[in-house]
Amino acid sequence: MTAEPFPPPLAELLALDHRRLDDLFGRFLTAMGAKDTAAETAAIRRFDHALRLHTALEEEHLFPAVPGQKLVAAPGESDRERLFRELRLEHVQIREVSGMMARLLVEKNDVPGARALAGNLARRWDAHTTREEKEAYPLLTDLDPAGEAAVRDALGGQA
Ligand SMILES: [Fe+2]
Ligand SMILES: [Fe+2]
Repeated sequence: MTAEPFPPPLAELLALDHRRLDDLFGRFLTAMGAKDTAAETAAIRRFDHALRLHTALEEEHLFPAVPGQKLVAAPGESDRERLFRELRLEHVQIREVSGMMARLLVEKNDVPGARALAGNLARRWDAHTTREEKEAYPLLTDLDPAGEAAVRDALGGQA
């Protein structure tokens, strides 16, 4: 029997946070199926909040931009820099759809409008988390200890 490494690898904690977000989105879909608008609103607000925390942590500590470049390709960009830039761009797009769904439900009372975006958000979120878990997290072997500690603290605090 092999003992589980302790502390668990950072990639494992990040993937667990994806599963927590999957669960929140699943609650939204369940509420949508039941046509329970109050539960839909509560679930998308929680998902949107958790999404913003998760992606902010990644952008601050894991996938930093080349200084001055943000979402635009730097000259001579490496494969790793390109992957990280594309993931930051996906964050912008995913937050946009999630934030729009929350606004439609909370501010505009536009339930069909919010429901119409659910498939778009599900596809983007699934593709993004799969890409991170397969391609990006395995590259995170040289994080500075302070950054890694900050991510571990933040993820542990949400458990
Ligand atoms: Fe991400
Ligand atoms: Fe992520």
